[in-house]
Amino acid sequence: MAEWIDILALDEVPEDDVTGVQASGRDLAVYGVEGEVYVTDNICTHGNARLCDGFLEDHEIECPLHQGRFDVRSGKALCAPLTQDIRAYPVKIEDGKVWIEVD
Ligand code: FES
Repeated sequence: MAEWIDILALDEVPEDDVTGVQASGRDLAVYGVEGEVYVTDNICTHGNARLCDGFLEDHEIECPLHQGRFDVRSGKALCAPLTQDIRAYPVKIEDGKVWIEVD
């Protein structure tokens, strides 16, 4: 069943940058882009690299290992060598916290 979990305080979200968060046994990447918050899985779908160590430009996160890029809004893989999208979570802001919907 789907449920919402809070993963960090809103004021811990970096501005136009990415940070890594562990919550409910998940390794997550949290992005702040132009005042909006986006959350995806943190481990790249291509290999053992953490996207929170990558480079965020606008809505695109570049993996630090082979420079594959994902759109943080949808998790869509945008270029080689990626062949698989990354999971992007529904996000809501409530009580000064960032929540994601998981199942
Ligand atoms: Fe991310 Fe290869 S591990 S692009």
